[in-house]
Amino acid sequence: MHLSHNSVKELPSRKRAQLINSIGGLKSANLIGSISKSGQTNLAIFNSVMHIGSHPALLGFILRPTTVERHTYENIFETNVFTINHIHPKMIAQAHQTSAKYEKSISEFEVVNLEKEFLDDFKAPFVKTSPIKIACEYQNEYKIQENACRLIIGKITDIYFDEGIQNLDGFVDLTKSESVGCIGTDAYFKATILNRFEYAEVGKELNSKS
Ligand SMILES: Cc1cc2nc3c(=O)[nH]c(=O)nc-3n(C[C@H](O)[C@H](O)[C@H](O)COP(=O)(O)O)c2cc1C
Repeated sequence: MHLSHNSVKELPSRKRAQLINSIGGLKSANLIGSISKSGQTNLAIFNSVMHIGSHPALLGFILRPTTVERHTYENIFETNVFTINHIHPKMIAQAHQTSAKYEKSISEFEVVNLEKEFLDDFKAPFVKTSPIKIACEYQNEYKIQENACRLIIGKITDIYFDEGIQNLDGFVDLTKSESVGCIGTDAYFKATILNRFEYAEVGKELNSKS
């Protein structure tokens, strides 16, 4: 199959979205929890959470254009905080359902039946059954001129997970937490680790990590 820029452009819009959403590679899948100034909670699925840097510890995600109501964004704007929650296989249908366009007065936590919890006085809600929970403070945003999406940057303030899933070197084994990933915007997968390697150096034989 060969598709040129122009043939992609001429595809029916749904088919083009399916193609381009999946072709960029395997993605993370996370639930972002937020709260408005008046205390209304919100939960939505995002497949664009990415590592920005580890020192300081930063994560980012892509927010679609604000041409329609974006409750997660409005809440972050009001309260400056949000949570990132990994998705366990048992939660995928509920997680997917959070993408529906509910009214702002309706909390996805309640409507999809995912229990919320508040940890250590952090203002934004976490997903109780999520195997890895991350608290973030809004840091900055960058508007992408090409399509009016925004890269939202959050500073990691707290991380919660069972200690059994972390290796001695610090690595958190997302296969042990059973965190799911995403292909496009409707397929969810489990990860398998093929190998872990030592730091690669020129002229040095590459070894697997023991
Ligand atoms: C698998 C999946 C991944 C998604 N990823 C994103 C994303 O990265 N950025 C985004 O703005 N919307 C994404 N969406 C759409 C949001 O989940 C959807 O717009 C949701 O209604 C936003 O909720 P909110 O208005 O309560 O914030 C995704 C939807 C699905 C099903």
